[in-house]
Amino acid sequence: MTWNSGYVTDIIYTTGYYDQQAPSQIALSCLLGNVAPSFARRSEQLTYLELGCGRGRGALCLAASNPEWRVVAIDFMPAHIEEARELAAEAGIDNIEFIEADFATLDPRELPEVDVASAHGVWSWVSDDVRAGIVRILGSRLRPGGAFHLSYNSLPGWQGAIGLQRLIHTAGRRISGRSDRKAEAALELVQALGAADAFHLGQSDLVQMLRKDLSSMPREYVAHEYMNDDWRPCFQADVAAALADAKLEYVASGEILENFPQLMLTDEQRAVWDRIDDPALRELAKDFCLPRGLRHDIYVRGPRRISDAARDAALADLYLTLTRRPEDFIYELNLPAGHGALERSFYEPVVAALGQGPQRIGDLMSLAGRGGRRDNPAELAGMLVGTSQAIVMARRDADTGEAATRLNNHIAMRVLRGDPSHGALASLRLGSGLRCSGDHYVTASMMHRLGADSSVDRWADTIGLKAEGAGREKFLKAAEETRLRQLRVWKHAGII
Ligand SMILES: C[S@@+](CC[C@H](N)C(=O)[O-])C[C@H]1O[C@@H](n2cnc3c(N)ncnc32)[C@H](O)[C@@H]1O
Repeated sequence: MTWNSGYVTDIIYTTGYYDQQAPSQIALSCLLGNVAPSFARRSEQLTYLELGCGRGRGALCLAASNPEWRVVAIDFMPAHIEEARELAAEAGIDNIEFIEADFATLDPRELPEVDVASAHGVWSWVSDDVRAGIVRILGSRLRPGGAFHLSYNSLPGWQGAIGLQRLIHTAGRRISGRSDRKAEAALELVQALGAADAFHLGQSDLVQMLRKDLSSMPREYVAHEYMNDDWRPCFQADVAAALADAKLEYVASGEILENFPQLMLTDEQRAVWDRIDDPALRELAKDFCLPRGLRHDIYVRGPRRISDAARDAALADLYLTLTRRPEDFIYELNLPAGHGALERSFYEPVVAALGQGPQRIGDLMSLAGRGGRRDNPAELAGMLVGTSQAIVMARRDADTGEAATRLNNHIAMRVLRGDPSHGALASLRLGSGLRCSGDHYVTASMMHRLGADSSVDRWADTIGLKAEGAGREKFLKAAEETRLRQLRVWKHAGII
């Protein structure tokens, strides 16, 4: 047995940032599940643990956005840990520790007690021993009242595509070379069999979607998703049973909109669902209705249930800011329960107020002259954050934050050197990241260094743009458009 226990380790993973991992969003999920986010009381002294941090961008973003926190991030791939440590050192992020360790063998006593933990994209990709190690760490280190975010491939969402993973894995294993080459060769076989009308490649919607999407996905992503020996999607009840050994209880979905059954289920489905009392059976019934194969669960160690009134009072005190311009706000919703729309008489004044700057939810609820329901802050927060059009703000009076800006600038430099692009801009004011693409890092960095109104020609010269003629024009036009779209959003979010 080698050190990697069947997990792909010969190629590094992609970078990414996931809102569901941020404590501010985990706290919102808890509230939507009528559970007190006790850990939020320690908002300035929080200890955060990421299990399976990959290349560390998410953990780094949270550390840079919360300089008083202690962040610990663990992964067993030395290449991931080395890259993450290098970026932390370059950007001077000193409240984060990257640990190279295998969950199966790590002694939890080597870790501090933590308030919030998260494992994204790990659980269903690793062996039983590694899962048991994760439970051991949480059982030993998560404080009472602490929260754990866990994402995993779920059943029955994946049932139609289990064979596809097996096909890619088996075909890939027979090819010599690095895992991305194995995945590449395996995908060719999948496409060839698909073109030859292989019965089981035509049966499930998920398989159809994956066959279409996989060809354009980065090969390192495909390798880490499909080439692991122990990949196994799970039923939620089995995950909850495993985590019960760490005294954890399921409290809410980390996907904000999934906490609103009226949006997720059709009227007919809800009529059946409402008759179910057992929490595990309710989740299973929901999983049978929703066309998705990845769950984001929030578990709490010793959840304290709160009344609707207490929940609403806590929600009223949260601040939100928009992630897009008011004129770009999307009112139409495409949901599992069907097509819907946010009621304009209710939401337009809310969006207009947010267009002026961050707002307290309680104040948004009491906007004069507004139609719709004024008594439901959960729905307001849920719709705005759940559609990713607003984000919870931790410190509305904070400035841009030196550590956050340093990290953003260093990632911008890496983007210019050809690093993978997706991530999030760190922000002290948000206390989390604002998801973005690579060109956003560069634009934010230029606006910060040269001034928000500086000419894009200067940006091109500063970054040493090689392109001339049409290539340069294209850069200037795109940069100007990004600035126009992002200027107010970034100012309000404390990014520039
Ligand atoms: C699919 S990646 C997800 C990475 C990151 N959370 C993200 O979403 O970008 C899974 C990560 O788990 C790590 N991992 C797998 N098995 C592990 C183990 N036994 N102990 C520690 N880390 C492990 C891998 O190295 C990899 O970085």
